Amino acid sequence: MSSNKKFATRFGVIAATVGSAVGLGNIWRFPYECGANGGGAFLLAYIMFVIVLGIPVICAEFVIGRATGMNVAGAFRKLKAAKFWHLISWLGILASFFIMGFYSVVAGWCVDYIWQSATGFGQAASQTDLHAQFDSLTGDAWRPLGWTFGFLLVNFFVISRGVEKGIERMSNLLMPMLFVIMAAFCLNSLLMPGASQGLEFLLKPDFSKLTPDVLLSAMGQAFFSLSVGMGVLITYASYFKDGTRLVKTASLTAGLDTLVAVMAGIVIFPACFSFGQEPAAGPKLVFEVLPSIFMSMPGGRIWGVLFFVLLFVASLTSTVSVTEVVIAWLEGEWKISRKKATVLYGIGVAVTAALCSLSFGVLSGWTVFGRNFFNLLDFLSSNILLPVGGMLLSVFVGWVLDRSVLRRELTPEGHRVPAYVPLIIFSLKFIAPVAIMAIFVVGIL
Ligand code: PFF
Repeated sequence: MSSNKKFATRFGVIAATVGSAVGLGNIWRFPYECGANGGGAFLLAYIMFVIVLGIPVICAEFVIGRATGMNVAGAFRKLKAAKFWHLISWLGILASFFIMGFYSVVAGWCVDYIWQSATGFGQAASQTDLHAQFDSLTGDAWRPLGWTFGFLLVNFFVISRGVEKGIERMSNLLMPMLFVIMAAFCLNSLLMPGASQGLEFLLKPDFSKLTPDVLLSAMGQAFFSLSVGMGVLITYASYFKDGTRLVKTASLTAGLDTLVAVMAGIVIFPACFSFGQEPAAGPKLVFEVLPSIFMSMPGGRIWGVLFFVLLFVASLTSTVSVTEVVIAWLEGEWKISRKKATVLYGIGVAVTAALCSLSFGVLSGWTVFGRNFFNLLDFLSSNILLPVGGMLLSVFVGWVLDRSVLRRELTPEGHRVPAYVPLIIFSLKFIAPVAIMAIFVVGIL
């Protein structure tokens, strides 16, 4: 797919960017991070970061992508940026490997859970049974590996078909469905006996919990969930038409993405308290709480299957965007055919994913700073690589990029420069770089 291909419709643009943003980050990662980092305080910090850092940096990526119509590295070349800025594309490519590594493992678990939902979780009778089922899946060697590789094959098949045929059609149909089914689950959870305790946990901030660690996690979650900081949105914006409104698309994407994360919180936390589970359970949280929900619902098997199928598709529309960054780069910069690029990158990702999957079983002894390989890649990509990428992107667009390009791209065709444009520029020049740096300093050192 060369850069002269464009998304066919305006709805297609939104569906593809929202498709990239909405995925396991909202439904699996947000509840576990929120649960482990104090609930309401985390949600508040998260929403603040989405507004103050997320939306401006999304705009920065959109501007670079649409102004150049190129992949990440090509964009910096076309803008005649100094060598240093090419670091952003290398960081993005590294982040793409890391994210694909652990993300496809979780997507593989979802596929296993489609099957498990259909069979009523093997007639598991208690919470203990459900915990044991998750541990036996993740601790196994071949079963999760098989699903992960299956997921990767589907991902690379979609990618090989190109942007508008593969990505756009799939997002148009299935993203709205996911939204509707999530709304139904929210209602179901709100009727549970633990609803008020769960809602209080999610919505009532306890400010004493706002530690530097929590801020770092909330910032990482915001970047991860919005798919920002690694060039995915540069690549997608290179497929936007001239008339696509960048700020509107950025705000709508951020708004819908946050809504789905909050909905996931409303589904998970009431159920968590109703079933006596621990909100701070980490990456396994959703995989232990959701089955309890399905098993207590009338028609739970069907709901379970439907939900995990949609989650699978939501993951796919996200991984396709993560993959597209590297494929567009291999095609555009290295002149490798789309097919060859897919195979080359696919092999690298399969090895990384295998190591992540095995890190819950035979490789669980391999730890760095107390984290297994899976958790390490999750932490490094979300909490370090994406925010560093976001910081560099904001400095580049705020300080280096020609101001007239920035103004032109952010102003809808035929309009005067809207009042929000200086605000976005101010955030890119000052707020985003300083805030990201400050959080690194207090959160990591
Ligand atoms: N935003 C996706 C999610 O929330 O599941 C994950 C993701 C996609 C992260 C693309 C980063 C990215 F560049």
